[in-house]
Amino acid sequence: MSYPFQITSREAYDEAYKKSVQDPEAYWAEVASSFVWQKKWDKVLDWNFMDPKISWFEGAKLNISENCLDRHLPTHGDKPALIWEPNDPEDHHRILTYRDLHFKVEQFSNVLKNNGVKKGDRVCIYMGMVPELAIAVLACARIGAIHSVVFGGFSAQSIADRLIDAQAEFVISSDGAYRGNKEIPLKSVIDDALVQCRFVKKVIVLTRTRIPVSMIKGRDVWWEDEIKKVETQGNPPCPAEAMDAEDPLFILYTSGSTGKPKGVVHTCAGYMVWTTYTFVNVFQYQPDDIHFCTADIGWITGHSYILYGPLSAGATTLIFEGVPTWPDAGRFWDIVDKYRVNILYTAPTAIRSLMGFGLGPLQGKHLTSLKVLGTVGEPINEEAWHWYYEHVGKKKCPVVDTWWQTETGGVLISNLAGVTPAKPSYATLPLPGIQPLLVDENGKEIEGNNVSGNLCIKFPWPGILRTTYGDHERCRQNYFATYPNLYFTGDGCLRDENGFYRITGRVDDVLNVSGHRIGTAEVENAINMHTGVVESAVVGYTHDVKGQGIYAFVIYSGNHGDENLSRQDITQTVSRIIGPLAKPDKIQFVKGLPKTRSGKIMRRILRKIAEGDFANLGDTSTLLDPNVVEEIKEGKI
Ligand code: WT7
Repeated sequence: MSYPFQITSREAYDEAYKKSVQDPEAYWAEVASSFVWQKKWDKVLDWNFMDPKISWFEGAKLNISENCLDRHLPTHGDKPALIWEPNDPEDHHRILTYRDLHFKVEQFSNVLKNNGVKKGDRVCIYMGMVPELAIAVLACARIGAIHSVVFGGFSAQSIADRLIDAQAEFVISSDGAYRGNKEIPLKSVIDDALVQCRFVKKVIVLTRTRIPVSMIKGRDVWWEDEIKKVETQGNPPCPAEAMDAEDPLFILYTSGSTGKPKGVVHTCAGYMVWTTYTFVNVFQYQPDDIHFCTADIGWITGHSYILYGPLSAGATTLIFEGVPTWPDAGRFWDIVDKYRVNILYTAPTAIRSLMGFGLGPLQGKHLTSLKVLGTVGEPINEEAWHWYYEHVGKKKCPVVDTWWQTETGGVLISNLAGVTPAKPSYATLPLPGIQPLLVDENGKEIEGNNVSGNLCIKFPWPGILRTTYGDHERCRQNYFATYPNLYFTGDGCLRDENGFYRITGRVDDVLNVSGHRIGTAEVENAINMHTGVVESAVVGYTHDVKGQGIYAFVIYSGNHGDENLSRQDITQTVSRIIGPLAKPDKIQFVKGLPKTRSGKIMRRILRKIAEGDFANLGDTSTLLDPNVVEEIKEGKI
C-alpha cells in the first residue's frame, strides 16, 4: 500500500501546511480520495464553533471496518494485521493476517446481530488486551453499533455510570484478564455494575482466564458458544453497514474539571481520515513496519494508534496483554527483539519507570529493528527524552513527542519522524490542518514567539469531537464557550523563538497521573462518600514516575484511632467508586480547608503546599481563616 498523502520532506510539510490552511476543503478532499467510500461526499466541510456544529464529508457513505479490513484483502490479505503478545512470555503468541481478522470480524458481527444488536445501539466493551477486544470493536463498527470501551482498571460503579449515560443495552466482556502477576475478575465486576443496570439485555463473555463466573440465564452468553452457532449457520458473510459520514462511531468517556466523566463522541468519516493520516505521517509508517503502541485499547491512544489508524493504513499492529515490568523490566525490549518492532509508541511515565531500573534490563537486547520512537500522554521531561533517545533508540531513531487529547481523535502537534526537527520536551509543530493559537485569560490572542498562554485551535480538523453523548450543551460549555469561536484544549503552552510548541500541562482542575486523565472533583466526590469524611480537597503534585501524584487534604471525623487505617479506608473507597487508578498517593488529615469568604476552596494554595513550596503561597489575606494555612503546612506529608 502506498500513501499519496505521506509527507516525506520538510519542504513538503511546509507546502502541505500552507495548502491545508489556504484551502482546507481541497486539501482534505484530496487526502480522503485514497479511502474506500460507498458513496462520495456532497460537501467536505460545514462548521461553526458556536453551536458547535462540525460536519466533514457530509453526504458520504462508508464503513471504517471496510477500510481497515476488506480493502486490504486483494493486495495483502496474507500480511499480518495483528500480532498478539500474551501476558506470559511462555504462552503462545498469535498472529492474525488481514484475511484472518476479516473472517473473525465478520463472524463476530453475526454474533452481535444474532444477539439483537442493531445499528446505532450502544455496546459497552470491558475486556483485557486480547485479539478478541480488537475483533469486538471492529465488529461493532462493521454493523454500525456504537462502541464504548471501558478500561479494565475502572470499577463497577464507573462502568454503571457509563452504561447508564450511554443507555448501553449490550456488554462484551471476558471472565477475567491477566496483567503482570495479577488476575482481574472482569465478569464479576460487570455483575456488580449490572445490579444498577437492569436495562442491559445481553452480556457476551469471552473465556480467557477460566476463573469461575456466574452466568445469568437469558442475559449472559459465552462468546465461544455464540461463535459455534454462526459456524453451524455456515459462517455467512456480514457486509459492512453503509454508515453516514457523521454517524457516531464510538463514545469514549474522559474526565473533565467537573464531577462526571463525559462521553466524547467521534464519527465515522472524519475520525478515519484523521487517524490514518496522522499515523502515516507522524510515525512515517513504511509498508512492512511492525508498529507497537503500548497503550491500552481502553484509552483513545489504543483506539487510534493500535486499531483504527494502523489497520486502515494496512499496517501490522502489535497488541500486548501485559505490563512493562513483568516478568521483569526488560519486557518491552524482549518484545521489540522477538517481533523486530520498528515503531515503538509509549508514555513518558513508562519510560521514567523503566529508567528507574537502570541499564541492566537493556543489556543483551539488540533493539536494532527500531526506527521510530514516540511518546504521548503527558509532557516528557528532558532526562526521560534523552534516556529514550540514547538507550532505546541508540541515537538513531527520531523521537516524536505527540500532543493530542481524547477529544482530538488523533495527534495535533508533533514532529514528523525524521522529516521535521525534534526538540526535547517540545511537541514542536502543528500537523497540516491544525491552526493553534495562544490566548491570555481574557481570550485575547498572544501573538509572536517566545510567549506562553492557553492553547486553543481556531479551525476544525477531521478528527475533532462532535459532541458529548446525550448532552451537547456540555460539549459547548466545556470546549467552545471559554473563548468564543475557539476550541479550548485546557492545556497551557509555550511557543519558542522558532514557533515550536511546548505543552506545559493542564490549566484546569484535571490531573494527569501516569498519562491518565483524572478530575480532582471526581476524586473528591469519591473520598466524600466515605462515612468518616466531612470534606476534602484534591490537588496534583510533582511525582518522579507518574508525572503527577494525587494529594488529598481531608477533614475526617471517623475514629479509627489509627490514621493509617483511616487512610487505607479512604483509599479503598476511591478504588471502589472510580478504580485503582484514582487512588490518592498522599492523604493529609486537616482541621480546615483554605476557603474564601464565599466558601470556595483555594486550590492554588493547596497546590503550593503539596509541592512543599511554602515560600510562594501568594496572597492569603482573602481567606476566611488564614490560620488554617499554618496548620496545614505543619501537617504536610
Ligand atoms: C491530555 C489529554 C492523547 C492521548 C493520551 C492522553 C496531556 C497528551 C501530551 C504531550 C504534553 C500531553 C495534555 C492533554 N498530553 N499528550 N505529548 N505532551 N502533554 O489523552 O487522556 O485525553 O489527555 O494529556 O494535558 O490535554 P487524554
